[in-house]
Amino acid sequence: MLDVSAIKKDFPIFDRTVRDGQRLIYLDSGATSQKPNSVIDAESNFYRFNNAAVHRGAHQLAEEATENFENARSIVAEFLGAKSDEIVFTKSATESINLVAYALTEKIKPGDRIVVSEMEHHANLVPWQQLAKRTGAELAWFEVTPEGRLDLNNIEKVITANTAIVALTHQSNVLGTINPLEQIVKRAEAVGAQVLLDACQSVPHMSVDVRKLGVDYLAFSGHKALGPTGVGVLWGKNLESLPPFLFGGSMIENVTMTDATWAPAPKKFEAGVPNMAQAIGLGAALNYLSKVGLASIHAHEIYLAKVLIAGLSDIKGINIFGPKDMELRGGVVSFTLDGIHPHDLGQYLDSKGIAVRTGHHCAWPLARKFKVQATTRASLYLYNELSDVDALLSGIQDAKKFFLER
Ligand code: ALA
Repeated sequence: MLDVSAIKKDFPIFDRTVRDGQRLIYLDSGATSQKPNSVIDAESNFYRFNNAAVHRGAHQLAEEATENFENARSIVAEFLGAKSDEIVFTKSATESINLVAYALTEKIKPGDRIVVSEMEHHANLVPWQQLAKRTGAELAWFEVTPEGRLDLNNIEKVITANTAIVALTHQSNVLGTINPLEQIVKRAEAVGAQVLLDACQSVPHMSVDVRKLGVDYLAFSGHKALGPTGVGVLWGKNLESLPPFLFGGSMIENVTMTDATWAPAPKKFEAGVPNMAQAIGLGAALNYLSKVGLASIHAHEIYLAKVLIAGLSDIKGINIFGPKDMELRGGVVSFTLDGIHPHDLGQYLDSKGIAVRTGHHCAWPLARKFKVQATTRASLYLYNELSDVDALLSGIQDAKKFFLER
């Protein structure tokens, strides 16, 4: 177990109370994580002391800003086991995925196949639907088993010889399932398909090394990894092969009145003055995560998730969506409670200071697959402790009494 009381001291939000003086029990890190002081300071210190437009200007502030911004890029690269020039700062993981999907427009041909899965967040589904529509490619997907795993039994029938790209989530934001990439990457390689990984729910929670995974692209968002909002990352093995997505200043090599040429990657994907303070804040966030240790964070979350799943399984009327065994799963746990709408449950828990997410979690096809309109989701992180899990479990018991036994 991590020393949560020491960790919590680094997160000023836990100094406040909610709903009439109650302790904040934050179980919604899958939506966005809380921020440590080091991240808040890195972002505000940039504006306080170093603010200038990076890669422009001959003055000291511009130099310092550029150095800090490029240092953040190196931190991200090291965190992922990548090289700095393979890292693009975007505004979000959504933008990172859209960038690749747009950039592939000229490469994908009618009759090519794009493979996704039923457990994708809309951000890793809709851009591929649109790419298929633009190009005449066919969209195919892995189904999800009743246990909440990818059905890989027919992997050869899904990743066919005409597959150009496979776009998958690393860890489901609804089910907590961690997908077994080795088999998928091997099959994709065998047919010459590229693999994009939506790592929003994995990079903040476990050690991720892009070279070991063998994928071609990886996207994650800063705000789920203790970092600021407004910054996402795209890593690409061969970004140079993609055309730019946005056009403007900084991404060019030369411009005439009628044409332009592009700077090498990653600059050709960073048109305009970038999100400097946010990228620097993300660097501080990843440093914080590295200091605590990703292996320890993952083990901590797994321990709490195990207790949570066991406790939920003991409550009559609870239906858990996603694997109940701890192998290849993370600390995201979704469930319904018979007779109580998830929104009512969420609101009731909120009255006790417990923050959870309710809804379809931007994964509508998955909700349909499980024949539910909404679930309640608890998502764990390094600042959660056993007492948070206990509070959730007793909150659910109290909700049952409040809604069903009056
Ligand atoms: N994608 C975020 C979630 O799963 C917002 O909650």
